[in-house]
Amino acid sequence: MGVFEAPANLSGHEQVVFCQDKHSGLKAIIAVYSTALGPALGGTRFYPYENEDDAVRDALDLSKGMAYKNSLAGLDLGGGKAVIWGDPVADKSEALLRAYGRFVESLNGRYITACDVGTYVDDMNIVAKETSYATGRSTEDGGAGDSSILTAYGVFCGMRAAAEHRWGTPNLAGRTVGLAGIGKVGRYLIKHLLDDGASVIATDVSEQARAWLTTNYPQADFVDDTDALISSDIDIYAPCALGGVLNDDTVPILRAKIVVGAANNQLAHPGVEKLLADRGILYAPDYLVNSGGVIQVSDEIHGFNFDRAKRRASKIFDITGQILRTAESEGIPPAVAADRMAERRMAECGRLRSILLP
Ligand SMILES: NC(=O)c1ccc[n+]([C@@H]2O[C@H](COP(=O)([O-])OP(=O)(O)OC[C@H]3O[C@@H](n4cnc5c(N)ncnc54)[C@H](O)[C@@H]3O)[C@@H](O)[C@H]2O)c1
Repeated sequence: MGVFEAPANLSGHEQVVFCQDKHSGLKAIIAVYSTALGPALGGTRFYPYENEDDAVRDALDLSKGMAYKNSLAGLDLGGGKAVIWGDPVADKSEALLRAYGRFVESLNGRYITACDVGTYVDDMNIVAKETSYATGRSTEDGGAGDSSILTAYGVFCGMRAAAEHRWGTPNLAGRTVGLAGIGKVGRYLIKHLLDDGASVIATDVSEQARAWLTTNYPQADFVDDTDALISSDIDIYAPCALGGVLNDDTVPILRAKIVVGAANNQLAHPGVEKLLADRGILYAPDYLVNSGGVIQVSDEIHGFNFDRAKRRASKIFDITGQILRTAESEGIPPAVAADRMAERRMAECGRLRSILLP
């Protein structure tokens, strides 16, 4: 796929950089969607794509999503993302990560990287040997550490805002939350939910995750798969595993009245937001409620302070409420209201750079 000829939903990027280092085997694509609000921040996905088209498509799609997420989170950061094309288990090496770091450095701060699928805190420590533009490093190295802590907290704040909009109180006591994906984010989220008085029914494909739940939270229930979960008597559905889970098959059988979760790209295709609205299901857009992680790592740019980052993540409650109210008053799905708000901030605040400062 030619970058300039990309379909409309994948085009409009400022810059796409192809990076290669034959000796280490590095093949990476760094996509900068927008720097209207500041340097483009977004993680590095290390993934064995089937072909180059899939890698380019993912970089374009994810970088655009980051621009919207960072804008809504109120960050003075644009949106970017990088993909490393390869098998993270077989192909990752110090030399490859450092070669990648040198390409990030060559952009001189237009792109700031972080962790994503297939890259971890230890990897960012290595990338940071070659660039000052890497976040998501370990706390011992001045980094923000595991971003799933504030991702889970932000999802919890978004869920309380959605509950208030729907039921008049943010309190989750007495509600049942169906959670798919007992991973890094899911595990922190379960604690917030139980502490707030909610009941939890969870599922995961991993036997280890099931064992973790039984050991740590015996009061939570476990069901075998996502179909069983979404057809259970749940008030809120929290997708915290994979994308594409809200689709033509799942929405018709979903019993929850609210969907709020961490997984990226939950809507399988444009139009699903309308299916949800038609069934009276309130959907808080994923990139709105899962921005706690990027808020956490972005704090590293100025010297990490967990309390400050948590205060910022708590604003997800206010923004979610604002978007749900706007959607209702304008008669549009929340996903459309969120897109519009993100675009407006990029346009209005981005424009200010045209006022020349001496
Ligand atoms: N970690 C973050 O800070 C962060 C930030 C923003 C968004 N997200 C998104 O949130 C989601 C969860 O992230 P994570 O860091 O917890 O990932 P993770 O890999 O730690 O956890 C995902 C869990 O989902 C389970 N899973 C996979 N397929 C499943 C299925 N079909 N049904 C049920 N469970 C399944 C896995 O076994 C795993 O336990 C991902 O979509 C991620 O992109 C994460």
